[in-house]
Amino acid sequence: MSLKFASKCSVSYAKLVNFMLQKKHIEITSIFIFFSLLIAGTQIASAQEINFEVLQAPVIDGIINSGEYNSSKSFGSGAFELSWELIDATSISIGIVAQTTGWVAIGFDPTTQMQDADIIYAWVEANGTVVIIDAFSLNPTGGNHPLDTDLGGTDDILSYNGIENATSTSIEFTRLLSTGDENYDKNIPVEGEIDIIWAYGASDSFSEYHGGARGSSIITIGTPQQTKTTTQENPSTTITDSTPGFQGIFLLISLFSLALVYHKRR
Ligand code: HEM
Repeated sequence: MSLKFASKCSVSYAKLVNFMLQKKHIEITSIFIFFSLLIAGTQIASAQEINFEVLQAPVIDGIINSGEYNSSKSFGSGAFELSWELIDATSISIGIVAQTTGWVAIGFDPTTQMQDADIIYAWVEANGTVVIIDAFSLNPTGGNHPLDTDLGGTDDILSYNGIENATSTSIEFTRLLSTGDENYDKNIPVEGEIDIIWAYGASDSFSEYHGGARGSSIITIGTPQQTKTTTQENPSTTITDSTPGFQGIFLLISLFSLALVYHKRR
């Protein structure tokens, strides 16, 4: 809603209140203003709620702030932190922070050990280049996990970013819940549980064994697992709703009119 339209509405509202006062309908005017205040107040509360949601969408910049995602789980005594959040009913953002400067990976829905896991494998090179690979594990052990594209499938990472420091690697990416790559990607449910495996290695390599730095778990999609905070790197870029401004003006004019009513009454 434009500010011009908002101020026109507010002026008409003030004129109406003034007209009612001239006609000496003090009680009716008071009730009218009271309900106007109530409506404006409720609208402000709900408009702020909308912005709150928008503000907190994870930003795929490689930096995973505490409270940026609505779900996270820690593995390997905190050495591997997985975060996830649905962007909408069809796509998901995933973040990984692992205590390594080497590769990190997550695999969805394996059948036996690593077998048939839909693996996302990534690392950050010394010059900052992020390498991320949509892969598929063909065996239960041994690291036979070719790229989907080499198997005849498709690369379905939609966006990604990552950074590393002296001790850890942080990767963020998005993908569709159902990518359409039926053979080499697993469907992530919009609501419910999915089995995962995780691992990380000591160097930037697609073939290096993880040793003991691996594990399996179950995560819940769709139901937030933690409370988000407003901490965000660049929240202002996503705010588009200007309605609180309009409702604020309306609220002020209603309050002013109320004061006028009581002034005339005395
Ligand atoms: C080059 C890469 C890889 C190699 C050489 C490799 C090798 C192996 C080997 C030899 C085992 C059996 C011994 C053990 O339990 O440690 C194993 C198990 C395992 N790997 Fe990998 N792996 C690789 C990549 C991955 C990736 C990318 C993941 C996760 C996304 C992963 C997750 C696991 C898990 C969870 C197990 C234990 C499975 C179980 O016992 O239930 N591995 N891997």
